[in-house]
Amino acid sequence: MKDKSDYTVRRLADCHRIADFRELARRRLPFPVFNYIDGAADDEATRERNTAAFADVDLVPDVLVGADSLDLSTTVMGRKSALPLMLSPTALQRIFHWQGERAVAAVAEKYGLWFGISSLSTVSIEEVGERWSGPKMLQYYYHRDRGLNAALVERAKAARFDAITLTVDTIVSGNRERCKRTGFQTPPRFTPANILSYASHPSWALNFLFREKFDLPNLSTHVEAGSGQSISIQDYFNSMLDPGLNWQAAEQLRDDWGGTFCLKGIMSVGDARRAADMGVDAIMVSNHGGRQLDGGRAPFDQLAEIVDAVGDRVEVILDGGVMRGSHVVKALSLGAKAASGGRLYLYALAAAGEEGVDQAISILSEEITRAMQLMGKTSAADLSRDNLRFR
Ligand code: LAC
Repeated sequence: MKDKSDYTVRRLADCHRIADFRELARRRLPFPVFNYIDGAADDEATRERNTAAFADVDLVPDVLVGADSLDLSTTVMGRKSALPLMLSPTALQRIFHWQGERAVAAVAEKYGLWFGISSLSTVSIEEVGERWSGPKMLQYYYHRDRGLNAALVERAKAARFDAITLTVDTIVSGNRERCKRTGFQTPPRFTPANILSYASHPSWALNFLFREKFDLPNLSTHVEAGSGQSISIQDYFNSMLDPGLNWQAAEQLRDDWGGTFCLKGIMSVGDARRAADMGVDAIMVSNHGGRQLDGGRAPFDQLAEIVDAVGDRVEVILDGGVMRGSHVVKALSLGAKAASGGRLYLYALAAAGEEGVDQAISILSEEITRAMQLMGKTSAADLSRDNLRFR
């Protein structure tokens, strides 16, 4: 290997970092599917900054502390997590790989981590509740259809989910330009412009066409769109979600649910304070992977302000841009309870199903452990802003 970029990722065995799974997914997926996962809003500037922000802060290690025995476990929203790492809920997973949410749930359980399913998941709330006992959240989209909203709450209760996480950054869809170019819809629609790409990835195509029929089982009891009738995610959000979502509705949802409650997509200090006043259990500082408001600030850039304002009252979870164990360590040093991400496991899911996700989480777990040891820290409680310098 001559330099960092002088190698090719062709197989799972070539994947040594999260970015490698991205490359493998790019090779193995039809381009509309890959670009749906990889893409973001408008110029994707926010998406890029989400990861780049970590590089503006340097870790300053302590040495000679005897970091031979580590305890990296933490408690998030009342449930133990083996690492300060969470697998953020993401939608449509059986489109990426036929094993879909089942693969992610199995790996989360194996590593003792929180995961979540989206309201737009391709495996039902009931199945996930029944099969996996580890900590799990339902990522809740607030629909115009009040009957659907109520049904989601009841189903999450019956399936004994640990938390409902209300998505607050998606009252309308961000402008997903890559999806406009590729014609990506759910379920995937084959058009003259993209059919060749599907045909030239026969393994994806055969799995999609001949395995379990595509469905969004949490929604299809109420709406055709997305399961029976193909639609772009942008059109789905704009026609189905309620842009009138406000604090009163969030409080009502919290009360109807009556359990652990989290808001995902809080970015301003004012909103973080209001969430704390409302008594939420956690907030996810997130911009939806840069897929909504392009030009918005990166979660890591905004983390310190939010921790300073509400960190003593609410658990603050950093969601976005995490691609390395050192990113997790930096987020914790600023005061996050845990770091979370979607693409960090999605590329691996898309590239190689459960085996891929397992390998990705194993790599991140090793990276976090190694970074902690090299920092001279044996638990998350040892980390503080003393370990960081801003450039
Ligand atoms: C997205 C939704 C589905 O970002 O979370 O595409």
